[in-house]
Amino acid sequence: MVFELTEDQRAVKQAARDFAQQELLPGVIERDATMSFPKEQIRKMAEMGFLGMMVSPEYGGGGMDTLSYVLAMEEISKVDNSCSVAMSVNNSLVCWGLEKMGNEQQKRKYLTKLATGEWLGAFCLSEPEAGSDATSQKTTAIDCGDHYLLNGTKNWITNGGSSQVHLVMAQVDPNLGHRGICTFIVETSWPGVKIGAKEDKLGIRSSDTHSIMYNDVKVPKENLLGPAGDGFKFAMKTLTGGRIGIASQALGIASGAYERALQYSQERKTFGKPISQHQAISFKLADMATQIEAAKLLVYRAAWMKDQGMDFTIAASMAKLFASDVAMKQTIEAVQIHGGYGYVKEYHVERLMRDAKITQIYEGTSEVQRIVIARAILQGQIYQPMWKEA
Ligand code: CAA
Repeated sequence: MVFELTEDQRAVKQAARDFAQQELLPGVIERDATMSFPKEQIRKMAEMGFLGMMVSPEYGGGGMDTLSYVLAMEEISKVDNSCSVAMSVNNSLVCWGLEKMGNEQQKRKYLTKLATGEWLGAFCLSEPEAGSDATSQKTTAIDCGDHYLLNGTKNWITNGGSSQVHLVMAQVDPNLGHRGICTFIVETSWPGVKIGAKEDKLGIRSSDTHSIMYNDVKVPKENLLGPAGDGFKFAMKTLTGGRIGIASQALGIASGAYERALQYSQERKTFGKPISQHQAISFKLADMATQIEAAKLLVYRAAWMKDQGMDFTIAASMAKLFASDVAMKQTIEAVQIHGGYGYVKEYHVERLMRDAKITQIYEGTSEVQRIVIARAILQGQIYQPMWKEA
């Protein structure tokens, strides 16, 4: 087992760290308060190559491994999670999906623009009545010969109001259940695409989360992504990689809160010494560091397995389940270490605490991750006893 990062991976991490500190930290509190989408910051992220990190250079991407992407996500998530979720959706869901499932014409037309960040993408699976129960798609696509007619509503769509391309899951033949679901590439400028109001959220407040209505949208046949009827499996496969992205966001949130708590505890004095010298605080720091390290191992392992071409489904679910719980727990601890200062916006940790919650919800709730892991155990795929009693 090799636990060391390569020189290239360390360079990516450092570049992302510098970028986050210099370009994202200024104004992050105000953007959160006013819910303003970080358009300019995302443009700079595109210039840095953060929006298509794993895409092949042939299509304008960085050609990097998943671990490099995870490291960049982690650093950006220490500072601005509205930026990191936009990055995560564009990289892991939209670009990855197009590169894996798209034909050459679709890749040339869409992936090249998305990988360079000229365009931003959104992944449209969730519906008012199809969140965790994702096979219950009500959005329909009727085959009209040379095009499909798309109708329905999608919910909680990240990059919803600021994207030029949506990957939309829709039911083509309800009699086939999930095998009737297809994925379509939809341009948001097409007639019939209507963007709902921006959601007013607890955390990641400047992230652009919208409902989307598709009313008689004509989707040309050539914009069907992958084989007809494979749309649900496509969504599941894509989300498996997406879960590594969200796990790395959670890891970044936890680490960002820890770094702030550590620094504060060494500066703030009570009873004549820095609070880090009180056992009540030093034990918290020890627990935080240990939990974060455990989350890091799970997240990096999932990324490594993906890069090795191994089945990383369970590893991704475990990484997201654990890292999101660590993010929630450790941001609460970071606020506690800051005392009253932690409760005000200026010290950043209350925002990280609010941001942490969504990592237990989107791209599959913690309960969904447990379903995935438990099924694999009970189907005998993982964690079976090494011995049996006679
Ligand atoms: N890879 C490939 N295929 C998969 C798969 C995977 N990881 N998981 C399931 N499938 C296939 C199954 O093999 C099955 O196919 P067959 O019937 O042909 O064998 C089919 O998909 C249906 O699978 P299940 O029977 O397991 O489906 P289910 O109804 O029991 O649901 C579930 C399982 C795990 C709960 C799934 O519905 C799920 O993951 N739900 C959560 C959805 C989710 O993550 N939504 C996130 C929205 S996107 C988002 O948040 C992005 C954002 O903006 C930040």
